[in-house]
Amino acid sequence: MAKTDPVLAEGLKQIQRDIDSAFDALLPVPADPRARLYEAMRYATIGGGKRLRPLLLSATAAMYGVDRAAAVRAGAAIEAVHVSSLIHDDLPCMDDDALRHGKPTLHLAYDEAMAVLAGDALLTFAFEVLSDPATITDPFTRIDLVQALSGASGAAGMVGGQMMDIAAETASFDLPTVTRLQQLKTGALLGAAVEMGAILGKVPPEGRAHLRGYARDIGLAFQIADDLLDHEGDEAAAGKALRKDAEAGKETFVSLLGPERAREQAKFLVEQAVNHLANHGAEADLLRALARYIIERDH
Ligand code: IPE
Ligand code: IPE
Ligand code: MG
Ligand code: MG
Ligand code: MG
Repeated sequence: MAKTDPVLAEGLKQIQRDIDSAFDALLPVPADPRARLYEAMRYATIGGGKRLRPLLLSATAAMYGVDRAAAVRAGAAIEAVHVSSLIHDDLPCMDDDALRHGKPTLHLAYDEAMAVLAGDALLTFAFEVLSDPATITDPFTRIDLVQALSGASGAAGMVGGQMMDIAAETASFDLPTVTRLQQLKTGALLGAAVEMGAILGKVPPEGRAHLRGYARDIGLAFQIADDLLDHEGDEAAAGKALRKDAEAGKETFVSLLGPERAREQAKFLVEQAVNHLANHGAEADLLRALARYIIERDH
């Protein structure tokens, strides 16, 4: 299994440690009545996630010699957006889930109001961290980062995809529409991770086409893997409730193609993603291993 790839195992371990320390340092609990909100934000951000978006960001940035501290701060920002989306995704008005990262979802560990507020606070926290000169002193690079992350997070990105995902419970979407849904719901943030790495690396937009191709392909493969996991994965390993999509009557790649063809499609996309990196040498090995891991993971 790809996780045993030593480059990847080390990359995952390092980024998980760095992102945990970043959240720990950036979210101290104040000695005032807001303490519970900060505790809820820490509950959701520290420990648990795979940190794929920060890893994509830092692995891309490292190819262009970016200082790791800048990549980790930008990684914490994108992870904060991701975590805020999960907190809201688990709410009773959305997927109504009880388990996330192997522990009770935030609205159960705290309450619904705290889940709404912690999600809001983490979403805005992301842009506070990103636009801080401590992340990167050059203001042009900073505003490019903010634009990439905000565009991928809102109605033209993740939030828009979440809306289409809700619609997918009642509408019968065709394959191109489900593809668009997935590109927004998950692809946009994964794409932003790679884009932000390239921005930090000062790669000019015309030099990013292959990275965008890579990100587009792994984004789609990632969501097919998530849908396959929902369809046939192991709940204990996944750390979240599964079999939710079919239960909700949701159109996904798995419902449209069936698991076999969905799996083939995901494999094809990963090979295509790796091919986009053909002009890179060993410096792109982590991105290659990450692409393969995305469809072999069990959580
Ligand atoms: C899960 O994302 C939710 C989707 C976007 C489909 P991840 O698999 O990356 O979540 P983590 O690793 O638990 O944070
Ligand atoms: C959630 O998708 C995607 C976002 C939060 C943007 P899912 O609802 O499929 O994610 P899981 O399966 O609960 O992790
Ligand atoms: Mg959902
Ligand atoms: Mg969900
Ligand atoms: Mg899912």
